[in-house]
Amino acid sequence: MPVIETKKLSDKVGVEVLDADADRLINDPDIPAACMDALEHNGVLLFRELHLTDAEQVAFCRRLGDLVLFPKYEVPEVMVISFEPDNPNRRYFESNDYWHLDGFLDPIPARASIMSAHITAEKGGETAFASTYAAYDALSDDEKDEFEKLRVVHSMASIQRRGHPNPTEEQEANWARVPTREHPLVWNHETGRKSLVIGANADRVVDMDLDAGRKLLLDLEERATAPDLVYKHTWSVGDLVIWDNCGLLHRACEFDRNKPRRMHRSTLVGHEPIK
Ligand code: OGA
Ligand code: MN
Repeated sequence: MPVIETKKLSDKVGVEVLDADADRLINDPDIPAACMDALEHNGVLLFRELHLTDAEQVAFCRRLGDLVLFPKYEVPEVMVISFEPDNPNRRYFESNDYWHLDGFLDPIPARASIMSAHITAEKGGETAFASTYAAYDALSDDEKDEFEKLRVVHSMASIQRRGHPNPTEEQEANWARVPTREHPLVWNHETGRKSLVIGANADRVVDMDLDAGRKLLLDLEERATAPDLVYKHTWSVGDLVIWDNCGLLHRACEFDRNKPRRMHRSTLVGHEPIK
């Protein structure tokens, strides 16, 4: 019998795990490997209405790997994602609305993110996921050949421009202070699989005309995130979702930011540079 029983959430991405409660996640010796394997093959794992406390979430996540620490938060392994006035990262969360991978400016992006819903939006506020493995697989053979050589510069300015298309000089100066990062367009994973490294953070293609490069990146993002390729999760309080940050784009869907929505996110440290 398989360690966990799963059910597909959409054609290309995501499964629901049907038979893992908090006790199994924290204590069953076979759970970590089974979860990481299911994550690699499905991109998103959903555990419905688990209602983990922060301590339980951290205990489960630690079994999956090392965790990124967020020293500004009360529980440093748990970043609170909300637009409440006292949230120290409040202003950065606006850009979660655009397709991205977490840690795109880091030399080694996060392996996975684990997020649970504590307060859900009255309307909207879903989280959407699209596979960048599927995006690569859908390319023509000519595109696969052509893109293998391309390199892309990722920047804070690129993702911020989506929400602030007419930035002030001060905004531009602030974004420019964050160092950019160059990655290949095609990620050749250690597993032998290939994915595209795209999203709102992908700013320009190296050695390509600026407009032509931006047009290509936008076209690839639009193809990767066509509605029939996306799994959009409508949250219930207590749901926990893990996403494979190495083979997926994700984004938050619109909701009223003056009303409460609070998610608790932990992040698994990555192990593989994009190459
Ligand atoms: C994140 C993120 C999406 C959401 O926390 O990295 O992208 O729906 N969140 O809140
Ligand atoms: Mn994110």
